[in-house]
Amino acid sequence: MSQLVRFGVSIDKDLLDRFDHLIQERNYTNRSEAFRDLIRQELIKRQWEGEGEIAGAIILIYDHHKREVMNKLTDIQHDYQTVIISTQHIHLDHHNCLEIIAVRGKPKEAQALAHSLISIKGVKHGALSMSSTGKEIH
Ligand code: NI
Repeated sequence: MSQLVRFGVSIDKDLLDRFDHLIQERNYTNRSEAFRDLIRQELIKRQWEGEGEIAGAIILIYDHHKREVMNKLTDIQHDYQTVIISTQHIHLDHHNCLEIIAVRGKPKEAQALAHSLISIKGVKHGALSMSSTGKEIH
């Protein structure tokens, strides 16, 4: 178990007021947890720029009536078996499908996969949620 450390932070009152307002809206019970999350977020960003193991999810929204889209999505996913750990397909409504692709592995591979999928013509929206297995962020 890691050691808990307290430290003081000097901050402009106006900036702190705005921070308090923001964390209240996000239901944080105290500044410490909000501050820890900000630090973790920055560490995860750095992890995604490195070579270590990351985890995350790619979400895609597309119209399944456009058959070409589904073929391309499948072809690309078969090329990235090492980084994809799970895929979930949800039929949202008559036209739209939502696909959630869980990824784990090298950041560059996960990003290349996300870019390849999101840029397919017919994918209405795509996003990559960058997370971490937590080895460096606790
Ligand atoms: Ni569907």
